[in-house]
Amino acid sequence: MNPITWILKKILGSKNQRLVKSLRPVVAQINKLEQEFRSLSDEQLRAKVAKWKEELKPLEWSAQQEYLDRILPEAFAAVKNAAFRLNERKAAFTVCDQPMTWAMVHFDTQLIGGYCLHKGKIAEMATGEGKTLVATLPLFLNGLTGRGSHLVTTNDYLARRDAEWMGQLYKFLGLTVGIIQHDQSPDLRREQYACDICYGMNSEFGFDYLRDNGMATSKEQQVQRGHWFAIVDEVDSILIDEARVPLIISGPVTVSTHQYDKFKPLVEQIVKKQTMLCNRLATEALQLFEQGDADPKAGPVAKGKASEFSRTEEAARIMCKVKWGQPLNKGYLRAMEDAEKRKAIEKMELSFYADVRKEEMWKLKEELLFTIDQRAHEADLTEQGREFMSPGDPDAFVLPDLPTAFAEIDGSTELTDAQKIEAKAKAQEQMNVQSERIHNISQLLRAYCLYEKDVHYIVAEGKVVIVDENTGRTMPGRRWSDGLHQAVEAKEGVQIDKETQTLATITVQNYFRLYRKLAGMTGTAETEANEFHDIYKLDVAVIPTNRPCVRKDGNDLIFKTRREKYNSVVKEISEAHAKGQPVLVGTASVEASELLSRMLQRAKIPHAVLNARLHQQEAEIITRAGQKGQVTISTNMAGRGTDIKLGTGVAEVGGLYVLGTERHESRRIDRQLRGRCARQGDPGYTRFYVSFEDDLMRNFGAAERMTKLMERFGMQEGEALEHSWLNKSVETAQKRVEQRNYLIRKRTLEFDDVMNKQREIIYGWRNEAINTDDPRALLYEVIDDRIPEKVSEFFPDGDAPQLEELLRWANVTFPVAVDKAALEGKTEEEVAAVLTERVKKAYELKSQHEVPDAVANIERYITLTAIDKLWQDHLYGMDGLREGVYLRAHGQKDPLIEYKQEAYKMFEALMGAISDEVLHNLFRSTSNIMAFEQFLANLPQFLSAPDESSITGGVSAPAEPEPAPEPEAQIQLPARREAPKVGRNEPCPCGSGRKYKDCCGKKA
Ligand SMILES: Nc1ncnc2c1ncn2[C@@H]1O[C@H](COP(=O)(O)OP(=O)(O)OP(=O)(O)O)[C@@H](O)[C@H]1O
Ligand SMILES: [Mg+2]
Repeated sequence: MNPITWILKKILGSKNQRLVKSLRPVVAQINKLEQEFRSLSDEQLRAKVAKWKEELKPLEWSAQQEYLDRILPEAFAAVKNAAFRLNERKAAFTVCDQPMTWAMVHFDTQLIGGYCLHKGKIAEMATGEGKTLVATLPLFLNGLTGRGSHLVTTNDYLARRDAEWMGQLYKFLGLTVGIIQHDQSPDLRREQYACDICYGMNSEFGFDYLRDNGMATSKEQQVQRGHWFAIVDEVDSILIDEARVPLIISGPVTVSTHQYDKFKPLVEQIVKKQTMLCNRLATEALQLFEQGDADPKAGPVAKGKASEFSRTEEAARIMCKVKWGQPLNKGYLRAMEDAEKRKAIEKMELSFYADVRKEEMWKLKEELLFTIDQRAHEADLTEQGREFMSPGDPDAFVLPDLPTAFAEIDGSTELTDAQKIEAKAKAQEQMNVQSERIHNISQLLRAYCLYEKDVHYIVAEGKVVIVDENTGRTMPGRRWSDGLHQAVEAKEGVQIDKETQTLATITVQNYFRLYRKLAGMTGTAETEANEFHDIYKLDVAVIPTNRPCVRKDGNDLIFKTRREKYNSVVKEISEAHAKGQPVLVGTASVEASELLSRMLQRAKIPHAVLNARLHQQEAEIITRAGQKGQVTISTNMAGRGTDIKLGTGVAEVGGLYVLGTERHESRRIDRQLRGRCARQGDPGYTRFYVSFEDDLMRNFGAAERMTKLMERFGMQEGEALEHSWLNKSVETAQKRVEQRNYLIRKRTLEFDDVMNKQREIIYGWRNEAINTDDPRALLYEVIDDRIPEKVSEFFPDGDAPQLEELLRWANVTFPVAVDKAALEGKTEEEVAAVLTERVKKAYELKSQHEVPDAVANIERYITLTAIDKLWQDHLYGMDGLREGVYLRAHGQKDPLIEYKQEAYKMFEALMGAISDEVLHNLFRSTSNIMAFEQFLANLPQFLSAPDESSITGGVSAPAEPEPAPEPEAQIQLPARREAPKVGRNEPCPCGSGRKYKDCCGKKA
């Protein structure tokens, strides 16, 4: 920190301290009001609530917010007073089928937390501070509007527990509370959403949104009613950790292009071959290491540049190759355990990145079949690998150089223009085939070499289910994108889900960005404050604890190997266990939990293992984790949100001991684990055990410096390093990873934003079709927009209008029977007006024969089917585009910009196509056959004797455009109409911030 900032902070206090200080008067006011309320009867208290509700009902959103701000002290006081009454009466009830008694009244710090949530901030409050109760204040306050305030949890069990528990307060005050659970029917869900306050798990909210907007075809099928105010519990977990995998609803696919099945046997062989090669290399290198440089009798260096390298160096050089070819090779990992060897290897690898040796590195890599970058999660075939995959035609796996090919075609003197276009199309097609193939292979290589069964995924009931690496939670229904999921399915030999395609998809982040006001709570947000601010416009407020925290955090213990680390962990646990101190052991993966459990079994230490799979049972186990002598192993996620209270006599032996067996990639998750102990002023102790073999240390540690240290201290088997500045260097490594992960998430989001804008427009249109009372107006809008566009296609600049073609199009699309005479001599605008008017008249004539009750539904249906049919194809195309731009990224172009431009063009085409589909179906949908026949029966007459005056209603005066229905707040109608028609000087709708003419509109 810069010294001046430091001094200012000392004097003024941090931003947070100032915030908390500024809220003291409000807190005092709430408490004073609460005292006064004690003299009211229950009925009088409820009457206050009823009056607020009544007065809020007719107001607009922003007026409601002002009103809520005004009554906040009273409303918070009412909630606190309700808690006071329930507490006095020892109110009894059941929560998740367990009997329970009310025993809480809001603390001052909780009032502050509640205030921040109402203001749309993230309240960081340590574990055990009672965030569940904090949320009741803003939920009640915002629930008064009747719009539905949502509380979002990380699992179904917590949604039910918290709703049933906190529901006591809401019900007491006269508000309704709903609970969304996984297995509910749509009808039941709708009832829950209709409540003033609704609790549910994050993906349930997201999937309901997708079903409502992407699948439902009538208002009756929709369950949600807008997105106004939401509080996300464990907000870091939901908005940051879960952000990488989108929610997807999929359905049957029409075309399938992947060839995973076809390439699987080849990839299997090539992986096997490379494994053998790397094993051999590793053995060779280990031998060289053993011989060492000191003893000249050991013979000369095996081969190669004997003069340039010592034996150790040669060994290191070979090991580098092993690492590039098989990062998880056992021999390589073993070498890395040894300080000397590790140092030599790392030095060697570093030297390869110097410019003078880059070429040598490429040469070494070419001796492999493929290379894998564990950090960048990338896999590439080498020349040899390509030859192996496709003998005689290694170019099958090289991307053709399209720009050069195009230039050659353009420069050709032999080809006609038409032939040139054809030749280019062919080259493009060739490119697509190649890139698909390369992509398939690369994904398969990743699936085989970087994704491990039971670590990254499990196979259950013939399906590949993703396991969140950080939390150990399985994520059913989620899929890796970009074909990786299919590649893993191919690897595991389960049914490849080629039969499905995305019907609707949204990322969790984008779902939550729908809310007018969003707030969050968690024990750990501070380290990610920038990200919350940049992406969600959420500020973090750190709320002080109710009682001072007396937790002690020990220095990290750093071991050479995992084995030594775990042995030491088991020893430590058994010592704590012997003196009766409960231990909560945190692991970074399910695999590690299981390993540790086996070791504890051997040491005869009774323990429980939690993997965040069975939420309710786990919550029950973890409530007992603070009892005397308990040992509980848990992955990061397990039991989160459940309070660990200390058993009797535990405080005397130091309170709960939280032992981390690995530093996590992000500091936040470590803090979360530490925070599990020392709640509400309890004693507690935490310590992390780390080894140089941990992923974090291997990939991002300051390995060089650490290795030196290990040598200097001459560490013996089982010994550990410990120093406060070692903690710092571990944290530096974490910061580096955090930064990288943030950039990845941001990039994903930037791509997703493009889709998000399109989704908003399409869902807005769809929703309007579902909800409007006048669906015909929507159809007329399409007519008004599209017919002039079409007409202009037949009025080429400078040339004579192509009236014949225009007539053909018009008469094929609509039964309007226009003849040339009606259009001749008219301007483009006049022609468009004639057609528009005739189509509308004809349509009105047609609808007169329909069953009146059915007309509106048919009209809705025309819009809906057109959107659904084409939007899903579009989603499919967008998937392809996203893959494609990465493959094209070899040049200088930024894939994101390419993606935005292409996506915009595709969307423009989509909007045109939907309009055309609507026009096409206008006269082809009827309520029944009879109506249709009647209509047809009337047609000949109409066709043969077009009565100009009665049909067009005057040619020269263009009809007044149908007034658009009043758009509802959440419907993006203007965006829909504007999207395809952007002024050249307006900001580009792709969101780049530049003018349309300088961005997507450049080529258009
Ligand atoms: N005002 C209060 N008075 C007494 N007990 C309280 C009060 N507020 C909360 N508690 C108790 O504190 C415990 C922890 O509450 P809660 O689970 O809401 O904490 P949390 O902040 O959500 O923690 P976590 O970060 O673990 O989710 C609960 O047992 C609850 O009954
Ligand atoms: Mg909680």
